[in-house]
Amino acid sequence: MSQSKLDLASKTTGFVECLGQKFDSEDARREHYLKLLAQKLKDPEFRKIEGFPIGKDEDILALSNPPYYTACPNPWLADFVKGYGTPYDPKQPYHREPFVADVSEGKNHPIYNAHAYHTKVPHRAIMRYLLHYTEPGDVVFDGFCGTGMTGVAAQLCGDRGEVQSLGYRVKDDGTILNEESKPFSKLGARRAVLNDLSPAATFIAYNYNTPMDVEVFEREAKQILTDVEDELGWIYTTLHRVTKEQAAKAVDSINRCKTAKELESAVRALGEKEGTVGRVNYAVWSGVFTCPECASEVNFWEQAVNKKSGEVLDDFPCQKCGALLTKRNTEPARISHFDPALDNVVTQTKLSLVLVNYTVGGKRLEKAADSFDKTLAAKLDSFPITHFFPTERMPVGDESRRNDPAGITHVHHFYSKRNLWLLATMLNRSKHQSLTCALLDGHSVGTQMSRFRASAWASKTTGPMKGNTAGTLYVPSLIGEQNWLNIFKEKIAMIGRAYFEPKLSMVTTGSAFGISLSHSSLDYVFIDPPFGANIMYSELNFLWESWLRLWTNPLTEAVESKTQSKNLDAYRQLMARGFRTAFEVLKPGRWMTVEFSNTKAAVWNTIQSALQEAGFIVANVATLDKQQGSFKAVTTTTAVKQDLVISAYKPNGGLEDRFAKRGETEEGAWDFTRTHLNNLPVVKAKGGQMELIVERDARILYDRMVAFYVGHSTQVPLSAAEFQAGLAEKFPERDGMYFLPDQVSEYDKKRAQVENIGQLSIFVEDERSAINWLRSFLKDRPSTSQDIQPEFMQQLGASWKKWETRPEMSALLDQNFLCYDGTNGVPSQIHSYLSTQFKELRNLPKDHAQLKAKAKSRWYVPDPKKNVDVETLRNKRLLEEFWSYLPEGYAPPALSANKGQTLPGLTVPRPKIPKGKKLKELRTEAVRVGFKHCYQQKDYTTILVVAEMIPDSVLNEDEQLQMIYDTAVTRSGGES
Ligand SMILES: C[S@@+](CC[C@H](N)C(=O)[O-])C[C@H]1O[C@@H](n2cnc3c(N)ncnc32)[C@H](O)[C@@H]1O
Repeated sequence: MSQSKLDLASKTTGFVECLGQKFDSEDARREHYLKLLAQKLKDPEFRKIEGFPIGKDEDILALSNPPYYTACPNPWLADFVKGYGTPYDPKQPYHREPFVADVSEGKNHPIYNAHAYHTKVPHRAIMRYLLHYTEPGDVVFDGFCGTGMTGVAAQLCGDRGEVQSLGYRVKDDGTILNEESKPFSKLGARRAVLNDLSPAATFIAYNYNTPMDVEVFEREAKQILTDVEDELGWIYTTLHRVTKEQAAKAVDSINRCKTAKELESAVRALGEKEGTVGRVNYAVWSGVFTCPECASEVNFWEQAVNKKSGEVLDDFPCQKCGALLTKRNTEPARISHFDPALDNVVTQTKLSLVLVNYTVGGKRLEKAADSFDKTLAAKLDSFPITHFFPTERMPVGDESRRNDPAGITHVHHFYSKRNLWLLATMLNRSKHQSLTCALLDGHSVGTQMSRFRASAWASKTTGPMKGNTAGTLYVPSLIGEQNWLNIFKEKIAMIGRAYFEPKLSMVTTGSAFGISLSHSSLDYVFIDPPFGANIMYSELNFLWESWLRLWTNPLTEAVESKTQSKNLDAYRQLMARGFRTAFEVLKPGRWMTVEFSNTKAAVWNTIQSALQEAGFIVANVATLDKQQGSFKAVTTTTAVKQDLVISAYKPNGGLEDRFAKRGETEEGAWDFTRTHLNNLPVVKAKGGQMELIVERDARILYDRMVAFYVGHSTQVPLSAAEFQAGLAEKFPERDGMYFLPDQVSEYDKKRAQVENIGQLSIFVEDERSAINWLRSFLKDRPSTSQDIQPEFMQQLGASWKKWETRPEMSALLDQNFLCYDGTNGVPSQIHSYLSTQFKELRNLPKDHAQLKAKAKSRWYVPDPKKNVDVETLRNKRLLEEFWSYLPEGYAPPALSANKGQTLPGLTVPRPKIPKGKKLKELRTEAVRVGFKHCYQQKDYTTILVVAEMIPDSVLNEDEQLQMIYDTAVTRSGGES
């Protein structure tokens, strides 16, 4: 872009200090750093940094305001952190529990709305995490910052009003009190380092997070608006209540124009007659289809839209032959025309201008598009635009090329001609980055992707212009073409309303993995990374970035994408690298919050295993319902349909040091467990109700411990049963959760105030969740098989995984629970249940005949301390099953080395599964036991062999299997 990049902030004169250096003015500061950046850009090594955007030096320099913002990797990040942060000091105490309280922050806030993006986290939600985990002056990092809401939140932690709006009380000395009037934080801005791969995103983030003079901004923006309106407003002219003759004359006058200048004069001349012309607010363009029966053209608006109700018909009749058409069985009509920007003829789907909403004499009116409207649009199409506008071919990609069949193949095709003309003119005049940003923001409503909602239009309940379909580049059949002058007017007002006097942040453009920050230097990380294949940011940002002349480098874009040849595993590896970087730069003992809009279990598990691979330990997972703002305990991963908030911490130096000394011993496992329990929430309460803390469940604790050991590539010293027995011996248990001795009194105090504790909802989808369901059922009511059966059957619904063998309930009971046979005394689990349920059984001794009779044949959950036998037997059976998954002719190394020996647990003959054939059905529990067994035996080959045999989803959907598999790949020197 040719504009001077003098930001409004740089107009401030006076003495300024930046990264320890003094400058006469902001201009001098910027000039100094721009020179340094220009030199840096000449260095080929600098350009090799991962995620370096695609574009020329001059465009990078034009957009940057160094050292605070660079439209490429920022070389001054470490200096900033050194200058403003506090170095890591292991002696400095820091302890926080994960933040688990309810977060409900709507999106309807001027700051949220000022700059649009495909997905955004409301800054007030992030503020809650920041206030919880950090102190004023701490440096926080967001490696996938998008529009930079983490930076906004960091700064607003110093804004009394904003903090109070979260429901907290702020004392005069700045102490912040939570809802229970307990001090938990201090008022004061935090500093942010913000990074994103996309130059468009960081440009918005920078604009959000950089000081500017709002008055100057508004004055200059309005001036541009007035100037451009004077110069180009005529292109939105329409006729108002003229006679037929006048209309014909007007059409004729513009039809004869040979140049844009002539056209302008002709249109302006029409306006000289008071009250006969109006200014278009918006116009509606309709798709045109070809009837497959009679080949006539069918206007979608005319035939499919009921103008009274606004209903859009799925089936609509051809006006000529009456054939019933649908969008799917009908081809769009096409039209070829010369595209001067491409110097070529292009063929596109035909559009017809059908409706015009306009203002005349201060009144808003509407009419069917007439011959003048259509002729003016066609005329405008035929003249070239003299200012710069982008004409790039849309990049390869499912989303970016979705409109290829409609002939919308290049960037400029996404705008109506008059909107393109106006936008190019405005951007050409915009001398300030904030204005440029405001103009780019208008894209959500100002392109051919903007939808016209006939139902809203007919009912007049809301505005009919709906902007684009979020997360896509979809061009609809009814396009709402808005007047860009109005869009810009609105944007200026929005930015003015959202302005909050930002302080200092650092913004950098590149991959989250290429970040140049010192290890253990940051106090907190908040990230909201892309989620699998949901949104292709580089494709969606292409339009914006084409105006900025700088594009996302998609090589390290953390997405699952066929076009980019990135499958789920590639995505996981990228995310793991992102997490590893976050892990490195974070101080030990500090926290990272990952906000994650989950859609698929496999993606969610991928995130979990990537986190653990990076070294983080997950301490809490909750779902965040942005609408109702409720956190719910998460039991199974596939059940989660909402956003997730994962709290994970980097183990402190103490644990790591101790682990290095005695990791593989049992004591190492208990050391880990103690440290982990210390980092888990003690109480989760909501609306006077307490909730179960899933992370304190014995099985989850075991999984975390295993993940920690596998992450350190060491042997796991305890089996699940041994771990559970040890846990029950060493730690107090309450409501099925384990605590440190000094935590339990706090829990008990709270627990005494409530009657019941919230139940976990368990979604049964595989053997493991079925067992969990049975455990939960039997814990509450030890029952006979007949009693359990009907309820159990109801659980085995449609969500059952397709590869997972459906177990018999009797087998599950047999392998995991105990049944009272009526001989010895009644087990306490059944005894306490029966005595609360049946008056007549109350206070009876355990060997009373009546009690025994009632207790007979009831299944119950074994006491963890006595569970080792049940678990050992079960593992043996599962291991047998696992061996049966080996392909024909394959013998695990242990077996080949000791000919004649049987495999541990192999007591049944193996079915012959042909080599290279995948198993259609299996028990994931068997794969878990088998993988763990082979891992302990360092038999990585067998793990890889079995991984080949099982469906990919089994690995993808289980973070522990994934981790073991990855370790096997690394250890055996292969590649996954
Ligand atoms: C969910 S969005 C973040 C939105 C942000 N929280 C906000 O409020 O605007 C995810 C971002 O990750 C970015 N991204 C994708 N791969 C990346 C990578 N390897 N490094 C850094 N950023 C990346 C995308 O460009 C996108 O802006």
